[in-house]
Amino acid sequence: MTVTTNPNPNASPNPSPNAAPQPVAVIGLGNLGQVLAETFLAQGHPTTVWNRSPGKADSLVAKGATLADSAADAIAAGELVIIAVLDYEAVRQLLIPAADTLRGRTLLNVTTGTPAPARELAAWVSSHRADYLDGAVYAVPQTIGTPEAFVLYSGSADAFTTYERELKLLGTATFVGADPGLSSLYDVSLLSGMYGMFAGFFQALALADSAGIAATELTGLLVPWLNGAAAALPGFAQEIDSGDYSTETSNLDINTVGLGNILNATKAQGLGTELLAPLHALFERQIEEGHGAASLSRAIESLRETQAEAETASSAT
Ligand SMILES: NC(=O)c1ccc[n+]([C@@H]2O[C@H](COP(=O)([O-])OP(=O)(O)OC[C@H]3O[C@@H](n4cnc5c(N)ncnc54)[C@H](OP(=O)(O)O)[C@@H]3O)[C@@H](O)[C@H]2O)c1
Repeated sequence: MTVTTNPNPNASPNPSPNAAPQPVAVIGLGNLGQVLAETFLAQGHPTTVWNRSPGKADSLVAKGATLADSAADAIAAGELVIIAVLDYEAVRQLLIPAADTLRGRTLLNVTTGTPAPARELAAWVSSHRADYLDGAVYAVPQTIGTPEAFVLYSGSADAFTTYERELKLLGTATFVGADPGLSSLYDVSLLSGMYGMFAGFFQALALADSAGIAATELTGLLVPWLNGAAAALPGFAQEIDSGDYSTETSNLDINTVGLGNILNATKAQGLGTELLAPLHALFERQIEEGHGAASLSRAIESLRETQAEAETASSAT
């Protein structure tokens, strides 16, 4: 997957640095939308805002924002229209009645979702002669506009190029591809890594707690241990990309024994094994298929096999 910050060098470039700031609209003034609107206002962009519940625009209006009477009016006022609401259902509820105003606009949807609804929404927006960008925001509202924030964009490369200057106001702007679902796919991938880490964290703390060890004490050891363990990930990633799982260090046989010990110790302490037992099952499946000497990273093949089996089953029905 090529990731670029300059996806389409032939697209219309951003206006010159001296051009008047583009009008933007922000729909949804929750924690994120508020800060997005403030960021554009602070940079001199004419900023129109709208929120379902009245009152949330007050501080923005005091700083110079224009409050629209409806989402449709906000769309009509902005060249770049940003929507940041609870979920895709809320996005649809807001956009469908405003469809006629979309023509010629660029819609940037930073509402968190999944790839398929992002693709459907992008197709619907395109059918109304507007450009669609999907944005996965990696920031808390306090870090928007700082070097800590980054946003992954997918969808219209032309729109990304046209509004790159505005998008960079929010944080590092990276275009990940023309498939509008890609930023969501990156998002759920990165979040999967995070939740997997949380699973290990909860398991570790439950085990420690069962022997009277305080969570804070174990966490003091766990954080540097996990940071060290993370250093192994790029090597595993290379193995997965190349499909070459040969290893002389961390093979599936040894890790399956190790993880089995953890599960046994967990049961012996009277705790549930539901977080890590599925990982053990993935390892065992690879061993059953004769890959015990292969790298631990080959566990990913068990997931791929599960997906292939599900596809075969659904095509047979
Ligand atoms: N906050 C972050 O740091 C962050 C970071 C990355 C991504 N995101 C994503 O950005 C989106 C917004 O997050 P947030 O933190 O701003 O959430 P939030 O503070 O809970 O605000 C939710 C917003 O959605 C609006 N809303 C909910 N249901 C609606 C509906 N049916 N019709 C119209 N408006 C509706 C709310 O309007 P009312 O005021 O009327 O309730 C409010 O403006 C979410 O998808 C979130 O996952 C947030």
